[in-house]
Amino acid sequence: MRYLTFALTKGRLASKTLEMLESLGITCDEMKDKDSRKLIFTNEELKLKFFLAKGPDVPTYVEYGAADIGVVGKDTIIEEGRKVHEVLDLGFGKCRMCVCGYEDAAELLEHRELIRVATKYPKIAKDYFYNKKHQTVEIIKMNGSIELAPIVGLSEVIVDIVETGSTLRENGLSVLEEVCPLSARMIVNPVSMRMENERIRKLITELRTLLREGGKDAD
Ligand code: PRP
Repeated sequence: MRYLTFALTKGRLASKTLEMLESLGITCDEMKDKDSRKLIFTNEELKLKFFLAKGPDVPTYVEYGAADIGVVGKDTIIEEGRKVHEVLDLGFGKCRMCVCGYEDAAELLEHRELIRVATKYPKIAKDYFYNKKHQTVEIIKMNGSIELAPIVGLSEVIVDIVETGSTLRENGLSVLEEVCPLSARMIVNPVSMRMENERIRKLITELRTLLREGGKDAD
């Protein structure tokens, strides 16, 4: 039996994924050693390997087959546009992609003004404004703390992730429009899906059952 390799998004998504896998009896004790500098972890018994990666790199590892399976946010899947199969909504990491700004920017949106949009997600923003809203805008790619953009006058609005809404609230900004809902998804390499169909299908079925039974606890 060959190893099945998982690429997990570093941080909360990885912890949640490992929690879920643990309830299926899939554990990786090696990964729990916080002082370890190891990059890849193995469960010899189940022939599984796990590694942690930055979100945008997860679909890349999976497209090239360096990982068979990945867990990553829907936002990253859309933005990266890699050739992977999205097989399961894991139900955690729920948030929304939104157009946000000061309340008075609502008028600029309504009148389809040529405004500036700062975002970490230029593809999602472009698709939303150009294809859905038919509004010409100038998109400015940023790398984080996007909420700063309208505050310092870089852009009129932003396209960003809203989870609890506290970053917006604490900075006097609001959600002006919703682009799409988001959550963590499981993705699979198309060749792995064929070659390791039985093992991967079994895992998806078990996760689906777990979600159905305990779904109400997932945040
Ligand atoms: C994300 C997002 C918002 C914030 C939303 O940023 O870009 O800034 O979380 O969460 P909230 O609605 O619960 O306040 P993240 O912390 O990932 O870092 P970033 O600003 O560097 O993208």
